[in-house]
Amino acid sequence: MTAIDRIDTPRPPAPAGMTRPRFHLTPRRNWMNDPNGLVHHGGLWHVYYQYNPESPDWGNMSWGHATSPDLLRWTEHPVALRYRDGEQVFSGSVVASRTPEDGTLTALYTSAYDDQHQAQSRATSTDGGWTWDRDPANPVLDRGTAAFRDPKVTRYVDNEGRARWILVAVEADDRQVLFYESSDLREWEHLSTFGPIGPKGVVWECPDLLRLPVDGGDEERWVLLLSTNPVGEHPDPDGSSMSYVVGDFDGREFTADEARLVRLDHGRDLYAGVTFDRTPSGEAVLLAWMNNWRYAHEIPTSPWRGAMSLPRRLDLTRSEGRYLLRQAPVGEVAEWLRAAVPSTVPGVAQPFEHRSGGHLLCELGWDPRSTGPLTVRLNAGAGAEVAVRHEVATGELRVTRTGPAAESVHPDFPTVSTAALSSDRPARLLVSLDGSLLEVFVNGGEQCISNLVPFGPGPVTVSVDTSGRGPVTITTVDPVVHLPATPPD
Ligand code: FRU
Repeated sequence: MTAIDRIDTPRPPAPAGMTRPRFHLTPRRNWMNDPNGLVHHGGLWHVYYQYNPESPDWGNMSWGHATSPDLLRWTEHPVALRYRDGEQVFSGSVVASRTPEDGTLTALYTSAYDDQHQAQSRATSTDGGWTWDRDPANPVLDRGTAAFRDPKVTRYVDNEGRARWILVAVEADDRQVLFYESSDLREWEHLSTFGPIGPKGVVWECPDLLRLPVDGGDEERWVLLLSTNPVGEHPDPDGSSMSYVVGDFDGREFTADEARLVRLDHGRDLYAGVTFDRTPSGEAVLLAWMNNWRYAHEIPTSPWRGAMSLPRRLDLTRSEGRYLLRQAPVGEVAEWLRAAVPSTVPGVAQPFEHRSGGHLLCELGWDPRSTGPLTVRLNAGAGAEVAVRHEVATGELRVTRTGPAAESVHPDFPTVSTAALSSDRPARLLVSLDGSLLEVFVNGGEQCISNLVPFGPGPVTVSVDTSGRGPVTITTVDPVVHLPATPPD
């Protein structure tokens, strides 16, 4: 078998407990966490990811590998970088050579040694990402510390047109991001250190540095993405989350506009997100792990555990004197919705009900001034219900994941997530449900709420009601009709 053949083992039994997604990436079996080495290369989207090749629990960390032509239909491949005696392969990134005719991919990843020491190592692939050679000089970037990890490399071109590689990595326990530069991806020079800022009692993980235009114009700002996870004696039961900081990067140093972390997603299950190298359109596309370290080990799925979010295009807009990072699904999702026929219902007189197979896209448009509060209920039976409600009085969208099914997952699983949603202008929601993954995008991604939901196999009924008579426009899509007949391998 060559490395690019599919692994031809029998299809695993149907998952127990929470349902396996169809248009999100999950491994066929065993444990997955962070996305690693995201790169578009040779016409394919490559995703490497934190993977335990031997068990549905965290451990033996290696880089799994999957590819997709379109970010929705995934094929899993053999493990790309396997753990070794005394060394696990933690998170990192991949960049494609910018020299024409040179198809080399370079991975920078964290070697997590059994003696509690973490340092950055390097591997290269000259066959398009299928097989990798580790650098005999590894580790190539070592501070002799215990929590130096998650290198993310990006290409930086200065005002004089001089290009170089910038690597950001965390000293996780110190809540710091370290900036390095290199011209050959081998030798790294320390440039500066950012942090600590924001709440204590967390580690910083999986940084990323992006340059984004503001509202699609000429102005550009830099964004530092971060994942934070509570640690210490009484860690925050809300667990892991992602944040961002907007500022400037002059090629050496990142300067924040304001010394505060802004929450990227208001749900409980979006972590370790980073962006792809070399997207065809040059846009920033984020992929994140849809889980939370607080209960990740107890998610009732089998024989797989762990899923990625929908890939999201990131852009910056200016809103109320601040920069706001928006995120919206990329690719065919928008086309599927455009091709579907919307229904317009007077919310109160004719409550809307739709039975789905548990995989669904639902777009809603309404004007809160004429509908009043609006509620979307997703009911999977057996005590599993999630409500998405716009509270007109407080200008909030609330996603409620409570009840017996949620309680049975973990004591900290039941939750109410909230995000701002103005009551005095027309509103739009995109609700994506893929088995046990729920992502809610508010007003074109100005706010997002991403949550696992305790839905087993079987139908899910969607209902929409309002308290006022104003119309609600609802478009539903069954994504499964657009996907291959068999579930993803
Ligand atoms: C984030 C993280 C990273 C680390 C990896 C280990 O979820 O803790 O900091 O590299 O997971 O699997």
